[in-house]
Amino acid sequence: MTVWQDDVARDLVQNAGDRLALLTRGEGSYLWDADGRRYLDFLAGIAVTSLGHAHPVFVEAISKQAATLAHVSNYFATPPQLALAARLKRLAGAGIDGRVYFSNSGAEANEAAFKLARLHGGMERPRILALENGFHGRTMGSLAMTAKASMREPFEPMPGGVEHIPATLEALEAAIDDRVAALIVEPIQGEAGVVELPEGYLAAARSLTLAHGALLIVDEIQTGAGRTGQWFGFNHEGITPDAITLAKGIGGGFPIGALITYGAASDLFTPGSHGSTFGGNPLGTAVADAVLAEIERAGLVENAARRGEQLRALIDGIGSPLISAVRGRGLLIGVALSEPVAGAVVAAAQERGLIVNAANPETVRIAPALIIGDEQLAEFRELFTAALADVSASVSGKVSA
Ligand SMILES: Cc1ncc(COP(=O)(O)O)c(C=O)c1O
Repeated sequence: MTVWQDDVARDLVQNAGDRLALLTRGEGSYLWDADGRRYLDFLAGIAVTSLGHAHPVFVEAISKQAATLAHVSNYFATPPQLALAARLKRLAGAGIDGRVYFSNSGAEANEAAFKLARLHGGMERPRILALENGFHGRTMGSLAMTAKASMREPFEPMPGGVEHIPATLEALEAAIDDRVAALIVEPIQGEAGVVELPEGYLAAARSLTLAHGALLIVDEIQTGAGRTGQWFGFNHEGITPDAITLAKGIGGGFPIGALITYGAASDLFTPGSHGSTFGGNPLGTAVADAVLAEIERAGLVENAARRGEQLRALIDGIGSPLISAVRGRGLLIGVALSEPVAGAVVAAAQERGLIVNAANPETVRIAPALIIGDEQLAEFRELFTAALADVSASVSGKVSA
């Protein structure tokens, strides 16, 4: 072990396992480690650094705001906070009566959504529906809505009322009734391995939740801010939800999250019902507003759609026997493998200078910055092809041995 790995083992809480590298610098779609090795970054901090690393707009926004006003508490309003709220409402189609609550992370945005569901449901509607394989975060409320039992069980008892149902329309039809306060869904289940909802699910879920008076909450934490080739995943089905949660890509690397409410759901929070010291501070909101402005100015949502199609075609074209399917939309892609060797593919890719991620043992997740162009696609093709070949060789070696 090198010194930094010793430091990780001794000084950091052991919740995240061994770290893959000691990274010291980033620029655009590239990262450098402490030994000066360069990596093509096709993970973007798990769908976070939408503008890439050290983008001049991000750097200028953070520097200027830090030199102007960083934090004041929510006893006060600030111009960046109001500008970001207005921009998010416009982009998310939240209309004049929409509202925005700012948090510091995705899990916290989902905690707010959980409380929104409780405020809506009261004692008459104790049920909250979430989906099997869904991931909504690691704090207690968001964890309760997260499906994976092994993540929840050590921390039981969970906040009550959450039921996990299969991601099929039939299961939703069977489960929903007038005692449901809310249904929470991800348009694409990122952590589950980039698994899309069945076609038409969101539209049908919208009708069913309306018919039963339940809120439809869409977790856009991984899919939002242009990643899927539309501003938000729900835009692909043209619906209007009651609430969405955001984080990751809206801050481009600055920790910030948001809950956007629509229509009547916007009146559920009242003074004192929720809050966060840092939530919506001028520093975070100035950065997120600048990041979203740049995504708009540079047409990065369209770029995500176009580059995503190119990327999928390119991965299909590799023709590796290890690839069994390519899932996802825009620049959120899951490469399904025919063997549970995603960890080995990720390690081989890193060895060759490419960063991707194993969402699970059968799926490599790819989520580059929204700025990628021809050069990064060509480089990715070369490195990923080589990594797959490295692993294919060892898998077939084992089979024949
Ligand atoms: C869909 C979804 N919801 C919630 C979260 C939790 O966000 P955070 O890690 O910022 O708490 C994530 C993180 O991966 C996510 O992908």
